[in-house]
Amino acid sequence: MREAGSGHTPVLVREVLVHLDPRPGDVVVDATVGFGGHARLFAERVGRNGSLIGTDADPTALEQARRTLADAECRVHLWCGNFADAPRALIDLRVEAVDVVFADLGVNSAQLEDAGRGFSFQDDGPLDMRMDPALKTTAADLVNRLGERELSDLFYHNAGEMGSRRIAREICRERREGRIVTTQRLVSVIARALHVDPLSRRSKIHPATRTFMALRMAVNDEMGALHALLDAAPGMLRPGGRIGVITFHSVEDRAVKQDFQRRKNEAIYEPVTKKPVIAGAEERARNPRSRSAKLRVARRLPGA
Ligand SMILES: C[S@@+](CC[C@H](N)C(=O)[O-])C[C@H]1O[C@@H](n2cnc3c(N)ncnc32)[C@H](O)[C@@H]1O
Repeated sequence: MREAGSGHTPVLVREVLVHLDPRPGDVVVDATVGFGGHARLFAERVGRNGSLIGTDADPTALEQARRTLADAECRVHLWCGNFADAPRALIDLRVEAVDVVFADLGVNSAQLEDAGRGFSFQDDGPLDMRMDPALKTTAADLVNRLGERELSDLFYHNAGEMGSRRIAREICRERREGRIVTTQRLVSVIARALHVDPLSRRSKIHPATRTFMALRMAVNDEMGALHALLDAAPGMLRPGGRIGVITFHSVEDRAVKQDFQRRKNEAIYEPVTKKPVIAGAEERARNPRSRSAKLRVARRLPGA
């Protein structure tokens, strides 16, 4: 499923519908509405008596979602902002409780493919990486401002980059020659630090993958937003309501797993998916993005 001009193929579509099970009349929060791929299916499921509340930090994505959802039969409320603020948005909309909270984390394909956004190490562009263009700090600001130790910690803790110290040292050496402001200059610094040729296909992933991911997570405070959403979810869900999160790397997945486990111990949630749900062979072959996707779903217990 890739809509003409939509620029993004949603992952684990069937699995999301099976495990989150949106029903006619339900109120669904899609916290990462993106290009509206999942949202359109939620809208179809909840029907004319249901509501879809969607948010995205990126106004370009939200515009696309608006087009995708233009002929949805259900009530549609779209707002541009960080999903960490979802509880406040529900208050503004006078919605007391919802049936489904869903988040499909990370960036959409169009953001990755637009070199001007600076998310990709494949093409040259400004070292930006802001999902919300109103944010003050870009990846270039972090790369040029943080100390060697801070950079190294950021690459290691956010993305598990084992060469974090060498990369941080090389960045600090390089920026004495002038600010590092483009993606390709950073790629060449990383390649030099790790003694690899970014064009060689020796390793399974591009040598800049983890450094770029760590910077993107920091620029957009992705873990802060995820923890805020996980903390707010029990207060947004009605008893029996479901929360589902799709993650794309282990740091995010661990946070979701631990949150659901803790709330299970506190008798707030029960697991809907015992293990993370991953894409089947057909989807993995068709959509490479799905290969690292993991879906976890929990249900809020009545009386919690
Ligand atoms: C993987 S895409 C979602 C795609 C969507 N499910 C679809 O089918 O089109 C993730 C989206 O979440 C947005 N996003 C990421 N973190 C966010 C946050 N903290 N608050 C709001 N939107 C966020 C990104 O801008 C991006 O458009």
